Amino acid sequence: MADRVPVAVFISGTGTNMAALLYASRAADCPYEIVLVASNNPAAAGLRLAAAEGTATFALPHKGMARADHDAALEAQVLASGARFIALAGYMRILSPEFVARWEGRMVNIHPSLLPKYTGLQTHERALAAGDEHGGCTVHLVTAQLDEGPMLGQTAVAILPGDDADQLAGRVLIAEHQLYARCLAALVTRETDPAHLIGEVRKHAMALPEAEETVSHGMACFGIVKGKKFAYVNANHHGDGRIALLVKISGLDEQQHLIETDPARFFRPAYFGDGWIAIRLDLGDTDWDDIAESLQRSWMSVAPRKLAAIMEF
Ligand code: GAR
Repeated sequence: MADRVPVAVFISGTGTNMAALLYASRAADCPYEIVLVASNNPAAAGLRLAAAEGTATFALPHKGMARADHDAALEAQVLASGARFIALAGYMRILSPEFVARWEGRMVNIHPSLLPKYTGLQTHERALAAGDEHGGCTVHLVTAQLDEGPMLGQTAVAILPGDDADQLAGRVLIAEHQLYARCLAALVTRETDPAHLIGEVRKHAMALPEAEETVSHGMACFGIVKGKKFAYVNANHHGDGRIALLVKISGLDEQQHLIETDPARFFRPAYFGDGWIAIRLDLGDTDWDDIAESLQRSWMSVAPRKLAAIMEF
């Protein structure tokens, strides 16, 4: 398959989840490929397996290193490998907030519990002690809060009478291996998925005062109630395969300037004239803070004065 999304996996131990991700990527239709397996533990069994499977590996013990320096050393390898996403698979070190912030939305973790229950360690022991009917696992995006962050998927695993923590962990691991590959595939695909991209635009657009969504010429369209439109999402509108956000700008000068600065991202939207710019959303590196700002500016430019005054404070 062409253009698979390159992913780096971080491990600290056995690496069975890494192996599951790697073998899932052998399927012809898998949208990602594992380009690097990195570890803070040179003895991690998963490193040997990855190397034997022809995947690049990197190990650097963290002992004696400042956290941020250790993270930076791993990150340098990740960048050199070309990976665009990082999957934590039993990586038992907390990452520095700066590192986490740099990979926000592009770093995932698997955790052996049904989050938000049982963050941290000894998850199975705690599920058993609580008398839960199910343990399970969760794949989530990594944020600065340990084992929190938006969930991408969960699998519940029944607790059997007489289970001990190891028995439960073994069955949860089977579920982990299935869940992780599926969630990672969905994550790397969604940045070119029109439904996901429109959903992201919707979140920001609808957060603006008196915003409403309609459909115009088959495009999702956002405007001010009883007022003017301030954004359109153009998804493969002319069969060109592009997904773009159209917002209002100050005029031709700004339009030309944006296109000259980043011709891969910006283009002049057909039929909209000089007052609009199209911003590609499907390039895989969309900065959603920038998009939110563009939407707000566009909203400001069409909002009635009284309403716009709300935003000026
Ligand atoms: C897995 O169960 C994973 O969920 C857990 O470590 C194990 C690693 O196994 N991760 C955490 O507890 C993270 N907080 P593996 O090395 O065989 O994939």
